[in-house]
Amino acid sequence: MSHPGNGSSSNILDTFRLDGRVAVVTGASEGIGRALSLGLAAAGADIVVCSRDKSKLDGLIAEIRALGRRAESYSIDLSHVDQIEGLRDFVRDEFGTLHILINGAAYTVEAYAWDTTEPEWNKSIDTSLKGTFFACTILGELMREAGYGKIINLSSTFARSTMPTRSVYAAIKAAISHLTESLAVEWGSEGIRINSLAPTAVRTPSRKEFLAKFEDNVVSRVPLGRIAETDDLLAAAVYLASPASDFVTGHTLFVDGGFVAKG
Ligand SMILES: NC(=O)c1ccc[n+]([C@@H]2O[C@H](COP(=O)([O-])OP(=O)(O)OC[C@H]3O[C@@H](n4cnc5c(N)ncnc54)[C@H](OP(=O)(O)O)[C@@H]3O)[C@@H](O)[C@H]2O)c1
Repeated sequence: MSHPGNGSSSNILDTFRLDGRVAVVTGASEGIGRALSLGLAAAGADIVVCSRDKSKLDGLIAEIRALGRRAESYSIDLSHVDQIEGLRDFVRDEFGTLHILINGAAYTVEAYAWDTTEPEWNKSIDTSLKGTFFACTILGELMREAGYGKIINLSSTFARSTMPTRSVYAAIKAAISHLTESLAVEWGSEGIRINSLAPTAVRTPSRKEFLAKFEDNVVSRVPLGRIAETDDLLAAAVYLASPASDFVTGHTLFVDGGFVAKG
């Protein structure tokens, strides 16, 4: 794999290209995962887009194919490890390898801690933390075989600050950022780079009700003075997926308009 450090690229912008790379994006049916799938495809990657309901991915794979890239959809419930193994086998059979994994799928509990039930806790942990962990290890096998890979986990500013009703979500996002560091330490010698991408509130379908209630409050805490749109994340994701970031691992990149800095 070419990277900036080996002098093989005469133009720095070429190191951001993803031509010939194969990517898996989970949580691709809407919001951030959908936008990042299109962003990686625009930069040159072929993509396997995943969610539980495959029919929700039909429009997306048509859009990716219209960009001239290969796109396949895969139905998966990430809380089931055997289904992640099925996805790994599908990627190996269809593409032979995997260069990029974006772990975008999550389940967000919005409830006061006193009111949070065991089923909500389990669903949240199983989808967002267990699902991310085993997507990293099981799909990471393909990267290990190749001696190269780029994993991006969706964290959040909730990894660093929080608000009432988000105890479970905030705990999971802090865990995602720390898991990212742990895996970066284990896997650096295998050529697998793993980083987190951490937005503040982004205008996505699942955040419609939250933003209806709290948008003004969130905006007042963002120095750049607005909520993020999904497109705000594209360049950061392409950077972390591309050879341009080959000496970056274990990092949480906040794309948050200054939210964390303000505290
Ligand atoms: N939106 C924000 O303000 C914001 C801010 C910071 C961080 N984030 C993080 O960014 C990521 C994307 O956020 P988002 O708001 O765009 O979407 P989201 O509502 O957090 O996630 C929805 C996606 O996850 C998939 N999904 C849910 N449960 C699943 C399961 N058990 N197995 C497989 N897929 C599952 C859904 O597809 P199906 O329903 O079809 O399965 C959908 O594609 C998440 O990790 C989120 O925590 C979001």
